[in-house]
Amino acid sequence: MSPDRLSLAGKVAIVTGAGNGIGRAEALLLGREGAKVVVNDLGGDTKGEGADRGVAQKVVQEIQAAGGTAVANGDSVASYEGAARIVETAIKSFGRLDILVNNAGNARPRVIYNLSEEDWDAVIAVHLKGCFNMVRHAAPIMREQRSGVIINTGSESGLGHFGQANYSAAKEGIIGFTRTVARDLGRFNIRCNAIRPRALDTRLAGGEGGGVEAGIKLAQTFGNHVLGNRSMHTPRPAKAEEVAALVAWLCTDSMAGINGRTFQIGGGEVGLWSEPELVKSSFREQGWDLDALDQDVLRSFLVGDIIENK
Ligand SMILES: NC(=O)c1ccc[n+]([C@@H]2O[C@H](COP(=O)([O-])OP(=O)(O)OC[C@H]3O[C@@H](n4cnc5c(N)ncnc54)[C@H](O)[C@@H]3O)[C@@H](O)[C@H]2O)c1
Repeated sequence: MSPDRLSLAGKVAIVTGAGNGIGRAEALLLGREGAKVVVNDLGGDTKGEGADRGVAQKVVQEIQAAGGTAVANGDSVASYEGAARIVETAIKSFGRLDILVNNAGNARPRVIYNLSEEDWDAVIAVHLKGCFNMVRHAAPIMREQRSGVIINTGSESGLGHFGQANYSAAKEGIIGFTRTVARDLGRFNIRCNAIRPRALDTRLAGGEGGGVEAGIKLAQTFGNHVLGNRSMHTPRPAKAEEVAALVAWLCTDSMAGINGRTFQIGGGEVGLWSEPELVKSSFREQGWDLDALDQDVLRSFLVGDIIENK
């Protein structure tokens, strides 16, 4: 039995994209910890095409079989009206909304010179617009309640990921969105945080649309998949259950007061990301023009230690 500060008993949660992978693990764990769960999933393929309402229903049955309470919803988070119906499902079924986990995701990887407008729009629509749609409908209810927890799902892909311009843009947009929603809603006792998860046991894993093997092949061909010191290999295989544990923890009272932050989880590693800061800067009273900028001394100060182009 978990201590009180970790209990989610009586809380009402929505998990989007909860029919598979990370979302499914999150819904199962929240249900096990006592939350009543709206299991949302469109039930499409990894590109976000197709629909199968049975996918969400199956997870509902798993939660119920473990003694929990859950209902299914098959709307798309990419639709503003669909998102309203997802939130309505929580209110109609359980009378309130305490937890919103924005997890639904698709992937359409293409190198930028081959990336179609349709593939750009489809990925932005599910990840970034989907987060907005859900938060926009949940926020008035949580504001009225004077409480709530929102968790958005980013990705390390946002740091720079070969062939994932649409996905990276959406995911990094979600991090900025999270920081601002945290500022908008914090004074109403609503906290909004983000995660950058890793789970190799999901459909989107590794190659994020291409499967683990495809991801490893891409990394071997084009080098490290992200910038900085993040390699795609984890010390241990990354599993969805571990991501779910962090999300459940962020939902508990134990994490009250933590707002606008981004956490890492996967492969045995849990962490807190820094927020971007100006690394160095120089001030010039009369402002900067091309000649003033192109001085050896400024160039070497600002970018002299950067040697990587790709
Ligand atoms: N697996 C990883 O290593 C990893 C890494 C970084 C980020 N993520 C993110 O974690 C989240 C879950 O990914 P996953 O690996 O479990 O993938 P997954 O494909 O197993 O699960 C995603 C679920 O979202 C659902 N979905 C897609 N479009 C939807 C829509 N419009 N409305 C409702 N549901 C929709 C799918 O049907 C699917 O069940 C995604 O946001 C993904 O981008 C995953």
